[in-house]
Amino acid sequence: MFAVYIIVFICWKSVSHAAPSACENLLHPVEQLDFHHLEGSWALVAGSVSDPAHLESLKSRDSARIIFAGNNDTSKISFTVYYGGECHHKTYSVSLDGSTLNFDEREQVNLTLTFLFTSCSDCLVMRFDNESKKIERLLLFSKRRAAEPEELEEYRVQARCLNLLPPAVMDPTKELCQGQSAQTEREQQA
Ligand SMILES: *[C@@H]1O[C@H](CO)[C@@H](O)[C@H](O)[C@H]1NC(C)=O
Ligand SMILES: *[C@@H]1O[C@H](CO)[C@@H](O)[C@H](O)[C@H]1NC(C)=O
Ligand SMILES: *[C@@H]1O[C@H](CO)[C@@H](O)[C@H](O)[C@H]1NC(C)=O
Repeated sequence: MFAVYIIVFICWKSVSHAAPSACENLLHPVEQLDFHHLEGSWALVAGSVSDPAHLESLKSRDSARIIFAGNNDTSKISFTVYYGGECHHKTYSVSLDGSTLNFDEREQVNLTLTFLFTSCSDCLVMRFDNESKKIERLLLFSKRRAAEPEELEEYRVQARCLNLLPPAVMDPTKELCQGQSAQTEREQQA
């Protein structure tokens, strides 16, 4: 029965122009994102932007990383970003709603972050849309310092599907920004 279904599906797929393209499959948001998966520190591995004006600042982010911290409460997550040669850092209050990360209104950040599909189990692909719901950038993070060639290739296809500029790949030999996790900072303040 299942085999019949597969054959029918393949036939339908080969005649139907409405069949999902490789792009559609790669651009799906992650389903059922678990906060536990997000928690911790992630290194920026590659990034792609829509506006050439943002390319230079992206290229100076070899040492960038992000940290998610919280207490299993997806409405109260702290999101810390370390970036630039001087390793500036900023912590935001965010909440997780499905595959979307929303900034607290008080943060005055008018971006929507969505976690997209990735076949790499210790990676995050984050899509940043501006206020008019237009994509600004697509970033690849990993628990590792660099991704495997096939993982990078999948990400490159995602960026191409979104009509972004070709990705900049970060230099994995540059030391990652150091800093405490937001969790530790909070504990010290307490
Ligand atoms: C968070 O949830 C996981 C299981 O879902 C549990 O093992 C862990 O102890 C919880 N952590 C806190 C801080 O509540
Ligand atoms: C975000 O939007 C609000 C209201 O629409 C506006 O007041 C604020 O200046 C915007 N912030 C940024 C960083 O664009
Ligand atoms: C969002 O991005 C698009 C495309 O880059 C741009 O045309 C638009 O002005 C941006 N909207 C805001 C509110 O920044």
